Amino acid sequence: MQYKQRHTKTSRDIVTIEDLTNDEIMKIFSLADIFLETMGTGNEGTSRRIRGVTPWAKGFILATLFYEPSTRTRFSFESAMQRLGGSVVTAADPSTTSVTKGETIADTVRVLESYADAIVLRHPFEGAARVAADYTDIPVVNAGDGGHEHPTQTLCDLYTLQKKNKTLAGLNVLLYGDLKNGRTIHSLIYALARFGACIIAVPGTPGLELPTHVHTRLREEYGCDLSTSKNTADLPMKQVDVVYVTPTKPHQLALLDTEELKIEISLPKIDIFYVTRPQRERDHDTAFQNYPSVDRNFLSNNRFRDASVLHPLPRVDELSYEIDEDRRGIYFQQAAYGVPVRMALLAALLHLDEARDFAITKQPEENSERQVYSAEQGLKCDNSRCITHHPNESAYLTPTFTYRTPQSLRCVYCEHELQPAFIGNSTTRKYTSCLSKRIKSKHLVCFSNEQQARDRGFELYKTQRSESEKVLT
Ligand code: NCD
Repeated sequence: MQYKQRHTKTSRDIVTIEDLTNDEIMKIFSLADIFLETMGTGNEGTSRRIRGVTPWAKGFILATLFYEPSTRTRFSFESAMQRLGGSVVTAADPSTTSVTKGETIADTVRVLESYADAIVLRHPFEGAARVAADYTDIPVVNAGDGGHEHPTQTLCDLYTLQKKNKTLAGLNVLLYGDLKNGRTIHSLIYALARFGACIIAVPGTPGLELPTHVHTRLREEYGCDLSTSKNTADLPMKQVDVVYVTPTKPHQLALLDTEELKIEISLPKIDIFYVTRPQRERDHDTAFQNYPSVDRNFLSNNRFRDASVLHPLPRVDELSYEIDEDRRGIYFQQAAYGVPVRMALLAALLHLDEARDFAITKQPEENSERQVYSAEQGLKCDNSRCITHHPNESAYLTPTFTYRTPQSLRCVYCEHELQPAFIGNSTTRKYTSCLSKRIKSKHLVCFSNEQQARDRGFELYKTQRSESEKVLT
């Protein structure tokens, strides 16, 4: 079976960073450059902001729907739309909408499409933006869905890196902080891998390492080499492991010095130091202790001498105010770039006449049609923060998965991986424990436990019966 959105959309959604090709990202940056050149204050290398208004988006309306707090993302999207000459309708506080009456995302966006030309959505559950995109014809932009992704923050991050370094390929980028729950980290790490940067992932404290499904994906889909090292002699957080992520795809390898493949022995000179805050609101299991703050002392090592310090903000204690005065701290410029970058994205998504040459049109094929397993009964995503577990949304959502390997699934909403405990063959009506047998995907039925299989009339494969009976008695 193929996964199709509920209906074929003519517009494009930006739910994950995968929804944009590298060429499209570069196109957006070229348009952002035009906005900066024509409407920007200051010169290259100085602090630059957008001023004034163009009439490009006159008559267009953007809806901003934020179910979680936001300062930069919402204000910069709204500012971007207004500077494009369009207008904004907003629900910064969802308690003022029918959400408090139990209205679902699917219904909300189907109503909003009559009132606006695009929707920007932030939600605490992972996969919420995918649901919104599936239920409306107008473009949906994910402004952060739980700990999953935040693709437009990545556009701002990459744009800042590119302005500073002229290239993304071969940069040594240290990602520091809450790598487990930080959605900005997840979108950024995939993009950096795609553009051929070398990534050093350093959790702020043990327990905040990159999630397994992100690791798997970096290795399997982005052709990254991942090596772990306890050699943190150069870092103030000696108790944590460091993960080195180096792209190994041939076209990316060409951009790398062979020496870089040996970086597990010593930390390279860092070009970018990307700091993130502890996401306490998303994680009640981790003790956020000993999360060292990045300050002048921290950055005094020679390796960080020319590193630019970025942060998606807001900061809590993990980035000292000292760095505001340091030439390396460029996070306020990074936040300011949010306006030209989001102006460019909106102009490209809305196919504004003046942005004709930059329009983002067809949906990349792999996103509109994916091999799927739709779990009508039984199987559920095991990520409790997935939108399919939301009390209101679960009433109409069918847990749906793409095949990662024939018998390993990925949730289409939150992208967590799932290894079903038991699998069955829909033709023979037999089931077995997952690892022991291969079943073609068109006959595959997955179960979380044996009871589910038996409830649906499946019988255990004969060869396994005795073993299972032992277990069951
Ligand atoms: C981030 C977010 O909301 O994910 N902020 C942002 O959008 N600029 C980072 C965070 O909240 O830590």
